[in-house]
Amino acid sequence: MADDIQALAWTGDGLRLIDQTVLPGRLEHLVVRDTATLVEAIQRLVVRGAPALGVAGAFGVAIAMLEAEREHWPDGERAAAIARIRSARPTAVNLAAGVDRVLPLVGEGTAAVLAEAQALLDEDVRGNRAIGAFGADWILARTGDRPLRVLTHCNAGALATAGWGTALGVVRELHDRNRLELVYADETRPLLQGSRLTAWELQQAGIAYRVQTDGAAAGTILRGLVDVAVIGADRIAANGDTANKIGSVGVALACADAGIPFVVAAPWSTIDLDTPSGAGIPIEERAADEVLTWNGPALAPEGARAHNPAFDVTPARLVTALVTETGVLEVSAGRTPLT
Ligand code: MRU
Repeated sequence: MADDIQALAWTGDGLRLIDQTVLPGRLEHLVVRDTATLVEAIQRLVVRGAPALGVAGAFGVAIAMLEAEREHWPDGERAAAIARIRSARPTAVNLAAGVDRVLPLVGEGTAAVLAEAQALLDEDVRGNRAIGAFGADWILARTGDRPLRVLTHCNAGALATAGWGTALGVVRELHDRNRLELVYADETRPLLQGSRLTAWELQQAGIAYRVQTDGAAAGTILRGLVDVAVIGADRIAANGDTANKIGSVGVALACADAGIPFVVAAPWSTIDLDTPSGAGIPIEERAADEVLTWNGPALAPEGARAHNPAFDVTPARLVTALVTETGVLEVSAGRTPLT
């Protein structure tokens, strides 16, 4: 049950995270009580996914306040630690937005910051339920009466949010309405969020799925095996250009060619109106080892260099619909500008 998957929770004196690096083999938790551990957990993807990062950022401010008190930090150290959390990963705008949401409350004390962080967490779960319902309504109105085959990329599920999920929220809703036949889960190289995390969530929910290589996605779509693709987002520019896990734009191109909807499911907090277009979205470049090695052994010749962008940008013209907690925007049709 997705209701049981709680990627993050405040324990009273720390932030408990599901350690997503060891799933699906082990379900382990890490309780974070200091900012260095939180920054490391964010960068190592112990906690990941844009909405979950937003919640982690908000609680991270409280962690920095408690640590400053405990360790008798000198002036400026707390602000520097909060800045390190805020910029621990650059692409998901939710991380900075989560920090910024609670910052005005720092003067009121830790309890006020914690209450706001918890409010953000609760809002995210409620918002994801709404995204699921709006997304399912929109898809079913366009795809007719048959059971649907849905493709998703990366993990935009309960693990990537405060609960239920965005793209997987839509999938869960379709399943609950008995309208889902199968999910194609792209494995999502190089860190395999699809085969490790999405497959795990789908299995827990009793949803039929197949894991496929990222390279299989376009062919599966062009063979007519997919009715709709639904993905999450890390940052959506004001013109609708959408940054999401590397490989997303290839899925969008195949959907456009096949004439099936490419649907982005994300909360409003992922929309960054200060960034006019995708060209302004910072794309995280990650370590070469993620591509050139596998669990230690090298996959490429010694001296090989890697190109390892963690995200790509899908142009707005390829985004059929953006589903948020307030409804559906038909982006590529240009009927519903974000501003
Ligand atoms: O590098 P990750 O695993 O944090 O990337 C996550 C994604 O790209 C998700 O699809 C996105 O954040 C949406 S999560 C609801």
